[in-house]
Amino acid sequence: MNRKAESGSRMAKVPPAYRNSPARTESWRGPIERLAWAGKGVGRSEDGRLLLLEAPLALFPGEVVEAEVIWKARHGEGRVTRWVTRDPRRAEAACPVAEICGGCELWESGRHAPELKRLMTADLLRRQLGEGVPWSWHPAPELARRHRIQLHWDGAALGYFRRHSHALVPVSACPAAAEPLSEAIPRLQAAILGRMLPTRPGRWELSTGTPAQTVWATDERGRTWVLEPDGWQRNAEPIRHQLGETALLHEPGAFFQVSPPWAAEAFGDLLRSWNLKGDTLYDLFGGVGFFSALLGDRFRHRVLVESGETAVVWARRNLEAAGRPSDCLVADVAAWVPEGLGSPEDVILLDPPRAGLEPALCDRLLTANAGTLVLVGCDGAAFCRDLKRLASAWQLEQLAMLDLFPLTTHVEGVAMMTRRP
Ligand SMILES: C[S@@+](CC[C@H](N)C(=O)[O-])C[C@H]1O[C@@H](n2cnc3c(N)ncnc32)[C@H](O)[C@@H]1O
Repeated sequence: MNRKAESGSRMAKVPPAYRNSPARTESWRGPIERLAWAGKGVGRSEDGRLLLLEAPLALFPGEVVEAEVIWKARHGEGRVTRWVTRDPRRAEAACPVAEICGGCELWESGRHAPELKRLMTADLLRRQLGEGVPWSWHPAPELARRHRIQLHWDGAALGYFRRHSHALVPVSACPAAAEPLSEAIPRLQAAILGRMLPTRPGRWELSTGTPAQTVWATDERGRTWVLEPDGWQRNAEPIRHQLGETALLHEPGAFFQVSPPWAAEAFGDLLRSWNLKGDTLYDLFGGVGFFSALLGDRFRHRVLVESGETAVVWARRNLEAAGRPSDCLVADVAAWVPEGLGSPEDVILLDPPRAGLEPALCDRLLTANAGTLVLVGCDGAAFCRDLKRLASAWQLEQLAMLDLFPLTTHVEGVAMMTRRP
């Protein structure tokens, strides 16, 4: 098809009234019909076009709002500027910067946050996977807090980035973080200002173990200090998480579950209730061994594959110390997974980064011989896309959505699939 004809056919699908209409901002006022994925409120124009609205704080279905909107060919997008009516369940945010900070979106939904997240998640799954796919929802305990936060030092103040921006919102505490982390924020700022710590603008990660006690600060270059009563001391000790009977150690600044006690409880209960067991567990994107430790006693062998060399060193030590020696390999999962991986008694568990599975890796998994495949994903859209890519070979048996990132609109998807005959 030549270019002209192609653009002509595209044009034909656009309703004539909106063809070539330039993007312009308009005011809109109306009710939020329902919640869509990522906390967006769904409204509607007078002529029936759908409108997706972002709000600086949580939206409740049924609230009437005013918004600034840009209309596109078929739908509108905009931001809420004022609430005309507020849901009586709306609570006062327990964070003074809740309205501008990019870290959390749901403070004002108070104890109703898990219910709002369930509605958003339902919208995602319905649109991505179709009606009628059963799934279970696992809300976070009210007191689940972050054991890892990333702050930014701009040369004058320490804080988080403002929503949709790299402008700094200075903070002296963070009620979404475990208490020792929150209390360490002014001490980190004081040490930088006092030139006891590097003063170059950049990112700082504060992290703590389980239970949350000692606090580590890691700068952008990976240098680490631990907070002692008399100040920050250079320290290369690992962070330790005691999760039930298992201890997992890792380097400060490395990946670990954001809310470790809640993650261990949620995944542990879920995967045991799915009766996940077998001969070999392929723990792919395995980090320092979280899933191998959690499920280790249910498999005769464990093979962990992870690209981070230091993470693999810790995985090997962690699993040996837990009495579950495992084959821990440094590799790129997509390059490592062979055609026909595993046998019917084996389980392949994949916990990739946010972007999900590469297409080539999905193709390879379509040929796997393992009996069960478990996919874990922290980006709802990428997770659903991968489930669909795997569906020709893998039958979805169980689907659960875990609220592992309280106060935000993010959720963790977990799916168990069995090999189609
Ligand atoms: C979401 S984390 C999961 C870690 C672990 N399963 C856990 O729960 O602690 C993803 C992990 O995959 C690793 N990773 C990222 N890309 C990878 C790749 N292409 N091949 C292997 N590992 C990779 C990261 O270093 C990180 O440890």
